[in-house]
Order: sequence, then structure tokens, then C-alpha cells
Amino acid sequence: MSGGRWPVLVTRVLPKPALERISSKCDMTLYEGEGAMPRDQLLAEIKGKVGAVTLLTDKVDDEFLDAAGDQLVIVANFAVGFDNIDVAACTRRGVLCSNTPDVLTETTADTAWALLMAAARRVAEGDRFLRRREPWIWGPLMMLGQDVNGRVLGIVGFGRIGQAMARRARGFGMKVIYYDTYRPRPEVERGLGAEFRELDDLLAQADLVTLHTNLSEETHHLINAERLARMKRAAVIVNTSRGPVIDEAALAQALKEGQIFAAGLDVFEKEPQVHPDLLELESVVIIPHLGSATVDTRIAMGMLSAENLIAALEGRQAPTLLNPEVWDQKSR
Ligand code: DGY
Repeated sequence: MSGGRWPVLVTRVLPKPALERISSKCDMTLYEGEGAMPRDQLLAEIKGKVGAVTLLTDKVDDEFLDAAGDQLVIVANFAVGFDNIDVAACTRRGVLCSNTPDVLTETTADTAWALLMAAARRVAEGDRFLRRREPWIWGPLMMLGQDVNGRVLGIVGFGRIGQAMARRARGFGMKVIYYDTYRPRPEVERGLGAEFRELDDLLAQADLVTLHTNLSEETHHLINAERLARMKRAAVIVNTSRGPVIDEAALAQALKEGQIFAAGLDVFEKEPQVHPDLLELESVVIIPHLGSATVDTRIAMGMLSAENLIAALEGRQAPTLLNPEVWDQKSR
């Protein structure tokens, strides 16, 4: 500690209230550059720190943990997704790690819903069309999309955000089917009016498919050429989870061949790059990983990351730990 304050690293500028909260307790090293902190700088700056607030663009692996040193207490991720963190490696070394669930559920579902509507109803394409200043007149066959209301919504990944999508679907009079490796209690299914389907059945039956899974070895390219071929020709697919859940080349091919109708993407396989074929397609709506990007939600994520960090350093249980067993061991 320097002057009674904990040395910590924050790898990107966060909303002000979060930075103020962290610096009220800690001696904060803040990376203020544009974009992700360069890896060599990250490895140099983490040395000797007791805590870090990391982003989904920072890989927390054995190399990072070696560079940090044994004094590291917590890595508090500013994201609900944590595929950038090797949780097992943290656990082996007794390092706590946390994420930011709940505070971004509704906002991310709003974004997924916006993509669903935009892709099905050709909103971005219509906007681009008008901006080209081409002559046009209202016409019965002009730019026809697919209905969302009354259709079948297929939710892949039925955790917090998936369930928030099911709630939205009710207002649109939709039938909801879902797939997950984990089945919620029957009363949750009933309350949401959602029916379980095996993944391949869901893809064949849904008019609109929305992805809300974690990224893991099991979900990498979960949606591949074979699965896209099972979908309806009028189907729309939306991804606000992690890019590699979809094989992007296969998606571009399926859209080009009219195997499915449209896609709405917030995340990309080789983020920040977007597959060049997708950029050429009118039937794709793309936004730059904006799922949780509202003023209030980003403040809430920052405050939760700060609380996880500070609680761990003060010897209290951090609220949203990914490896609570490390805490249990420490507090015995
Ligand atoms: C997350 O939290 O995992 C998102 O991708 C960024 O909000």
C-alpha cells in the first residue's frame, strides 16, 4: 500500500463516478489511451498491484497473473461476459475475479430487440437508401420486411438477458421457445410462457432467433453452416452475446444465398474487425458492441466493478464473484 491506499490498475477510462469511487480508496494507475491497453504495457503496469479493473479486451491469463505477482487480490471485470478471464487460473492462485451481471440485463435486451426490429423491418437499409438520395415513391412491394409481432421467437441461452427477451416478446404477442443446457424451474418457464426445444428444433421452428450464450469451447461456432441451413428462409438472427458464437463466413454465405432473411449483429468474431462480406450485405444490421452502452448502465457497471474491487481489498465479500470458492477459502 502507498500512503494507506491500495495500488490498483484500471485499464480504460470508466464513467466518472466509478473512477471517483476507486480513487477515493486506492492509488489508481489509469490507462487513458484510446482503445485497449497494449499488452506489454498491461503486463508492466499490473506488476505489484493488489487489484485491477479490466475490460473484455484485456486477457487475464497465466502470463498476466505471473506479471502481477502474488500480492494480487482481485480482478474486477467491467463486463458481464468473462471469456477474457481464465477463471480457473485465478482460482488456482487464490485470486478473486468478478463480473457485472444484472445491471446491464435490460439495456442489453433493449439493444437485442432494437437489432431484431431493425433487421426484420430493414430499418438501416431504408436509412442508407434515403441517404443515397435515390428517387423513390411509396410502393406496395417496396422494401418488404418480415413481421415480428405474432411470430415465434427462439432464444438461445436462457439466462438473465435471454429471459428479458422473453418478457419483451409477450408485448409483441409472440410465441417463445428457448434452448439452454440448463433448464430453469418449471414456474419460471410458465411465468415467461417459454417452451424448451433442442437447438436444432428451435432453429427450424423460430422466425426470429436471438443469441444470449456465454462464449466457451462448447458455444464457439454454435451457429455454423449446418445450423444456418436448418433455419427458415424468412428467419432473422440476432447476436448480442459474443462474436465467435456465430461462424461469420458461414453467416455471410447463408445471407448471400438467401438461406435466411437478415441478421442483426452487435458483436463480431474477430472484433473489432467485421467480416468484409458482411459489410457488403444490405440484409445485415451492424453496430459496434453497444449492447450495454447507455449512460446509466455504464455508470452502474462501473460502480459494481468498483464495489467488487474495494470490497475484496477491504476483506469483505465482493458482491458478484466468479469464483466464490476462493473467497470461502480465504474467509475460513
Ligand atoms: C458484457 O458486459 O459482457 C458486454 O459485452 C459489454 O457490456
